[in-house]
Amino acid sequence: MRESGGEMDAGFLWDFWYPALRSTEVRGDQLKTAMLLEVPLVLGRTAEGKAFAMRDSCPHRGIPLSHGRFDGKAVECSYHGWKFEACSGRCVEIPSLTSQDKLKVERIFAGHYPCEERDGYFWVYMNSRGRVEADSAARSQPPEMPPATPELKTFSEKYRITHLECELPSHVDQGIIGLMDPAHGPFVHQSWYWRSRHSIHEKEKKFEPIPNGFRMSPHTPSSNSAPYRMLQKYTGEPVTTTIDFVLPNIRTEEIRSGKLWFSSRATVTPVRRDLCRIDFVAAWNLLLPVWIFRMFAERFLRQDQETMIQQAEGLKHNPRLMLIDDADRPAKWYFGLKANLLESRRTGSAMVHPMPGPVTLHWRS
Ligand code: FES
Ligand SMILES: [Fe+2]
Repeated sequence: MRESGGEMDAGFLWDFWYPALRSTEVRGDQLKTAMLLEVPLVLGRTAEGKAFAMRDSCPHRGIPLSHGRFDGKAVECSYHGWKFEACSGRCVEIPSLTSQDKLKVERIFAGHYPCEERDGYFWVYMNSRGRVEADSAARSQPPEMPPATPELKTFSEKYRITHLECELPSHVDQGIIGLMDPAHGPFVHQSWYWRSRHSIHEKEKKFEPIPNGFRMSPHTPSSNSAPYRMLQKYTGEPVTTTIDFVLPNIRTEEIRSGKLWFSSRATVTPVRRDLCRIDFVAAWNLLLPVWIFRMFAERFLRQDQETMIQQAEGLKHNPRLMLIDDADRPAKWYFGLKANLLESRRTGSAMVHPMPGPVTLHWRS
């Protein structure tokens, strides 16, 4: 489906899965709301436990369906009582109709999106088709099957897992290039246990193209980070880290040392064009209590958040910006990937990867 109209200007990538809510936020037959890509959603779980996501707007007069009632099967609009089957969005009842009315109720749909629970999130597949349906065409065609939802990799039966999130008052592009930016660490994330700005040194990192993204090839992590040194001491085995970025918004990191592992995923999800949210999930089998990890991770996220709040101040005035080599090369790849994906969808031809092949980057951090 073509990206077109006003939505395209917002710079969102449609036809991908995005996390909308934490699973723990939805209990019983409660309805919850979320916004993804400027689409208001109402979400819940049916009596059978199936997650669903509908556009939070009644197709009759547009009142949010979240004001209505949910009986575990269908959502009833609060205004005129039209009822919509939660998973399909199909209208099943219009109370005002008489036996003389010929309106085909079952041909009316509320906008709806594929929705699945995984890794503790409600994931919603934001298909451009859903936007079309909301505008009335193609409503009765069978839904396309979306790809599988992203899944956090784990490497042993037992592990700890924790989730964190933080909102950034920025466009998703700024959130993402902030996430992959190697040069801000010594300035934004200064702390005695991690590194100080005096520990800046030259780094050489190898990157390789992967489908829809790029990988920082497996390497032994920075020697100026205390936690990595401790891990190596503990296992006596080399520590390797692999960091991937894939469209639309996913950064994963895998750290392994012998039998011990740590795996994390950060996604930056567009809520509106001026607001995005980082959802961070991490799992590990190290002897690291969840609360200690959260203490450090929350601090890290807060430092990034404060920086992005300050940046948003500056961006209000539409300054000209720069991307420099090599420290901003990953950001350039991100913009290249995004543009090439849109181009390949537009033309129907294969996507051209912006990286010619493996590349070695140098920077100081
Ligand atoms: S606005 Fe929803 S039933 Fe009329
Ligand atoms: Fe950061």
